[in-house]
Amino acid sequence: MKPVIAVSGLRKTYGSGETAVHALRGVDLQVWPGDYVAIMGASGSGKSTLLNMLGCLDTPTSGRYLLDGFPVADLNERQLSLLRNRKIGFIFQSFNLVPRTSALSNVELPLVYSGLKRAARRRRALAALEVVGLTDRAKHLPSELSGGQQQRVAVARALVGGPALLLADEPTGNLDHASTVDVLGVFDRLNALGRTVVVITHEDEVAHHARRIVRVSDGQIVSDEVTGVAA
Ligand SMILES: Nc1ncnc2c1ncn2[C@@H]1O[C@H](COP(=O)(O)OP(=O)(O)O)[C@@H](O)[C@H]1O
Ligand SMILES: [Mg+2]
Repeated sequence: MKPVIAVSGLRKTYGSGETAVHALRGVDLQVWPGDYVAIMGASGSGKSTLLNMLGCLDTPTSGRYLLDGFPVADLNERQLSLLRNRKIGFIFQSFNLVPRTSALSNVELPLVYSGLKRAARRRRALAALEVVGLTDRAKHLPSELSGGQQQRVAVARALVGGPALLLADEPTGNLDHASTVDVLGVFDRLNALGRTVVVITHEDEVAHHARRIVRVSDGQIVSDEVTGVAA
């Protein structure tokens, strides 16, 4: 089995000279197919920076990254965005839905350039909404949905292209407890179906769902432990 994510000696420095911020200071990490990883650490420890590198949203200052075996640094912009679109689904703390369009249309968006016909896109988007339990809200606007429902729409949008890897940065940071439980339930189901899930969080409740906890402090991994079975 080859790792989905393999980084070694990953460093990221923002700025230069006296004002340089060493956000990542040599990170080595492997994530395997089907892993369910929580990345934890204090605010400012480098979690989001790490996720941005893993998601190919930003480039490291140095270090090596193989995404599903592909050396990310050797790819051009076009190859990189193709790889990213095919392999990774992103979920952020702010749901980032398009406000004046329905849940269904939001989920369909990533498929617009997929070459799929409209009917096929719609079928896939409906299937993704079903996975997150929102079939009956397909026609609703984001403003007509609760925070938890909006985040589930965002999860459906992350899923619709069939990525093997889900990367989430504080996905429950804006949610109440009931919605947190809903969203975590979706992550658990997706992981049970074989998706690799990497979720940044500072909440123990979120971490309890994962099977592996990676702790980051001051730009370095300070512990990496396997926990119990996923909830
Ligand atoms: N775009 C940026 N420019 C300059 N400094 C940044 C930038 N993004 C993050 N940082 C700094 O890098 C460090 C790590 O930030 P971040 O990865 O966002 O941490 P976390 O997600 O764990 O709170 C912090 O000191 C932060 O201020
Ligand atoms: Mg962050």
